[in-house]
Amino acid sequence: MSFADDDTSSNPSNNPHLDNLGDVKFTRRELLTALAGAAATLPFAGCATTSGTRWLGPERLGFTSITPMTEDSVRVPQGYRAQVMYPWGDPTGSALGAPPFRQDGSNSAADQALQSGMHHDAIEYYPLPLGSTSSERGLLAINHEYTDDGLLHADGMRTWTPEKVAKSQNAHGVSIIEVTSQGEQWTVVNPSRFARRITAQTPMTISGPAAGAAAMRTSYDSAGTLARGTVNNCAGGITPWGTYLTCEENWNNYFAASDGKIPERLRRYGVSAKSGYRWHEHDGRFDVSKEPNEANRFGWIVEIDPYEPASRPVKRTALGRFKHEGAMLAIGPDRRLAFYLGDDEVFEYVYKFVTRDAYSDDRAANRNLLDNGTLYVARFNADGGGEWLPLVHGQSGLTKENGFADQADILVRTREAADRAGATKMDRPEWGAVHPTTLEVYMTMTNNSLRGAANRPGVDAANPRAGNVFGHIIRWREQGRDPKATRFEWDIFAQAGDPESSDANKRGNIKGDWYGSPDGLWFDPSGYLWIQTDVSTNALNRGDYKSMGNNMMAVANVVTGETKRFLTGPNGCEVTGCVMTPDGRTMFINIQHPGEPAGDRSDPDKPKAFGQWPDGPSGGRPRSATVAIRKADGGRIGT
Ligand code: FEO
Ligand code: CA
Ligand code: CA
Repeated sequence: MSFADDDTSSNPSNNPHLDNLGDVKFTRRELLTALAGAAATLPFAGCATTSGTRWLGPERLGFTSITPMTEDSVRVPQGYRAQVMYPWGDPTGSALGAPPFRQDGSNSAADQALQSGMHHDAIEYYPLPLGSTSSERGLLAINHEYTDDGLLHADGMRTWTPEKVAKSQNAHGVSIIEVTSQGEQWTVVNPSRFARRITAQTPMTISGPAAGAAAMRTSYDSAGTLARGTVNNCAGGITPWGTYLTCEENWNNYFAASDGKIPERLRRYGVSAKSGYRWHEHDGRFDVSKEPNEANRFGWIVEIDPYEPASRPVKRTALGRFKHEGAMLAIGPDRRLAFYLGDDEVFEYVYKFVTRDAYSDDRAANRNLLDNGTLYVARFNADGGGEWLPLVHGQSGLTKENGFADQADILVRTREAADRAGATKMDRPEWGAVHPTTLEVYMTMTNNSLRGAANRPGVDAANPRAGNVFGHIIRWREQGRDPKATRFEWDIFAQAGDPESSDANKRGNIKGDWYGSPDGLWFDPSGYLWIQTDVSTNALNRGDYKSMGNNMMAVANVVTGETKRFLTGPNGCEVTGCVMTPDGRTMFINIQHPGEPAGDRSDPDKPKAFGQWPDGPSGGRPRSATVAIRKADGGRIGT
């Protein structure tokens, strides 16, 4: 999403920034050695990201790059086909009902609870049955990040009612749908016993060290252990036991303060007196003046079991509270897990959570594995080294004397704890991705127009360009290749931007097809890095971005740096979310906010002013949707 909020810093800390641009590039030989020497790590059987299949070989990246596009369609290379499935408003397949989508936005809040939410983001594939490696039948978990209420309701936000608030809340959250492949088409199974929507109203357990803390208690949950709903579900992640992790990103935007008073602990997260979603007008829990602790119950990572349709989602507080972008898994040699986490706002931080315990082959034994472990925040040093600083009570200056009462307090106020620990302020950390064999971690720093501006942090080694218009991809390697290490080495994999630019702050070093504002990242099992862009609609196809075309997806060979454009999206969209079936023959991605105007919110009188994908002239309004991509000859994606 591109609401301006990401570009406004909430970080007043004086954390030092780094001075020098150290030349710390990993050499090609180092990478090749790493590729040859690393042990494959095989999380849960059958998961597409982790099937254990290794496809390294000369057949890869055999497609012909497509050129930049500014047309209102999804383009894929010659020999590939893209199928639109599960657009906003389509039935989920829930046994509770399947109301058809109404093209004029007149579906009710109750209908919306049984239909695809809006603005798809992360996506993961879970083979059926559990434990299989099926590439023909599975579950998809799909985030619905936010709503464009100009499209969601027949007359947009011109009138405002409790019913509209409920519809907006029901268009948020997550879909779990069952899909099957029949011939060349994917179909949503209807009805399916697995199909369900998780929304901004779904009851969820709060667990981990902050559960039950005073800051988590509200007027309707005096125990502080039962939250209602999830919002702004951005990137995601998987666990080795086949659960889904959905990440609450710009949750601050849903809260308002009718008396205009914002507590300091909420200011640090960018909560302001007004909310563009206007939920607080009819739902008092989103008014911090009325329900001051409700906001503390958002900003977490939520674990969902797609295989157990009756299971209650769980907010895992041990992983900290910020604007969570994603949770990218690495498995250590001792079967302890690390999750790499970004906080997407200018001058915010990169985090990692390491579990205390090893995961078990007994699925049930992992049920509360994510409640115990250590949260760290990253400091990137100018010499190419880095440290993980523990956000643990009594360490990193996080003591009572310094204002942190206990571990729950540290987790509820994670950003303030990270300030105190001395983390490095980054250029908007978005998705990460963990290389399947080397376990090196790549993370997008999407852009930061404020880097180096007056009274703002200047450039540093890890964020080396002033007014970082195009963003970069940083990567690191843990000491001993152990995900639980507390030291790492890092370098910059790619600086985005046009390689021909005469401005050093805008010139990219991408070999091949260039991109800007990288956001989604995903490694396929052979170690090719898929990169998706999210240039905001007010920058797309103009100014510095005039020649990049619409938002797109490229794939990079991380050893050679070779990068090729694989997909371009329709007008106004961002491309986000990526996963393949275990056989590598279907890729699922999401097209989010097609047809979006520069102001982010559509005019209900002219819903198709900027695009009409995917329904075209026959449709009433543009719709975010999942796209299944196959090769016409049935081959693996990318070959
Ligand atoms: Fe939801 Fe940072 O993108
Ligand atoms: Ca994103
Ligand atoms: Ca983004």
